[in-house]
Amino acid sequence: MKVGIIGSGGREHAICHTIKKSNKIEKIFCFPGNAGTESIAENVKIDLESFEKIKDYILEKKIDLVVIGPEKPLVDGLVDYLEKFNIKVFGPNKIASQLEGSKIFTKKLCQKYNIPTAKFKICFNEKEAKNFLKNSSFPIVIKADNLASGKGVYICSSENEALIAVEEIFGGKFGAAENILIEEFLMGEEMSFFTIHDGKSFKTFGTAQDHKRVLEGDKGKNTGGMGAYSPSRLINDDLEHKIIEKIIKPTLRGLDELGSEYKGFLYTGLMIVDNEPYLIEYNVRMGDPECQTILPKLKTDLIEILLSCCDKKLDKLNIEWLNKKSLCIVVCSKGYPDIFQKNVEIENINKINLKKDEFLFHAGTTMVNKKIFATGGRVLNFVSLSEDFKLAKNNLINNLNKLNWSGGFYRSDIGYKVIE
Ligand code: AMP
Ligand code: GLY
Repeated sequence: MKVGIIGSGGREHAICHTIKKSNKIEKIFCFPGNAGTESIAENVKIDLESFEKIKDYILEKKIDLVVIGPEKPLVDGLVDYLEKFNIKVFGPNKIASQLEGSKIFTKKLCQKYNIPTAKFKICFNEKEAKNFLKNSSFPIVIKADNLASGKGVYICSSENEALIAVEEIFGGKFGAAENILIEEFLMGEEMSFFTIHDGKSFKTFGTAQDHKRVLEGDKGKNTGGMGAYSPSRLINDDLEHKIIEKIIKPTLRGLDELGSEYKGFLYTGLMIVDNEPYLIEYNVRMGDPECQTILPKLKTDLIEILLSCCDKKLDKLNIEWLNKKSLCIVVCSKGYPDIFQKNVEIENINKINLKKDEFLFHAGTTMVNKKIFATGGRVLNFVSLSEDFKLAKNNLINNLNKLNWSGGFYRSDIGYKVIE
């Protein structure tokens, strides 16, 4: 069969790589892909905002299944649009995608269904927000409501910092703002919990911990993710049971009552406080780079899993995993997440010889005359599976030393909480 993957990051390269192993695959198309996907798929340069052009291409090439990687097309309703043309597509619809697209939508759902989350207040203008802050205790969390790629969140340690955040958000730093979310600061450890859904039933799809901050020791600015490891050190059966019963099932009930269902990956971002889960955010997709750590552990044919979701038959399938530890280190362009140079050659990339259980997933790369150039902030994802996290990391550092790319940097402390 022919499969189309929408997206161009490390997550999409990992999805391409994993489905390529299926004996059902005849050809993969990647919209628009990167230098990594180019070696296993046909990269198609179509603007992801142009749903009509995407649909025309899918119909013309008779693509049997479409998998959507990033949140933007999901939140904008690409699934609903393609399904109108009888295209089989894996991903949540527009109503369900509000779980990520609107933090306030999710908070209201939490309120209605008693889902554990940080206490919150929605403010509709600058004055109301500033008044509320006068009687608040700090630290406090302030969030823009719309999709802001993780950047619209401020952790404020004083009223002064909070006032600046309010002004920046209402000033339009993350797009036009009609309201703002002010949240209690939860003290605990974060965990990413993944599930896969067919609209009727769901299964767990691994756990991970990512490192969002740019500097070692989890300091500095927020990024898309500098590295990750799977599984999370926090997961246990009791906690998993609580996450499913107290958070995921009530959320699905809420969507059902809105006349919607959930099909696709669901990323539940949690704060764990004394083995109790609190919902921080939902993402309606796999995490990036969490996906790169989880998919290499999958034993079951991913295509079979995705098809069973589209056919509402996930409950008939047993998903099997390798019992290994997985670690990913992301190589970024120097300067990221601020200004960085584009089109810098990654000279030594062909010197990397991957051994069994080692993977190199591309993100912001492009190939010109057989040479690979960095085009984005996050450029390469090195992943290793091993019996323990320390061995996995040593393997990665070996490869990173061989790469020795002058245009980039990486965090050498990924996974420090699970590696002594
Ligand atoms: P979000 O985009 O909502 O996931 O927030 C980005 C990051 O801010 C999270 O990954 C957490 O590290 C942090 N954060 C968000 N909300 C809270 C909260 N209520 N308490 C503590 N930290 C938070
Ligand atoms: N790694 C964080 C995210 O995918 O949103």
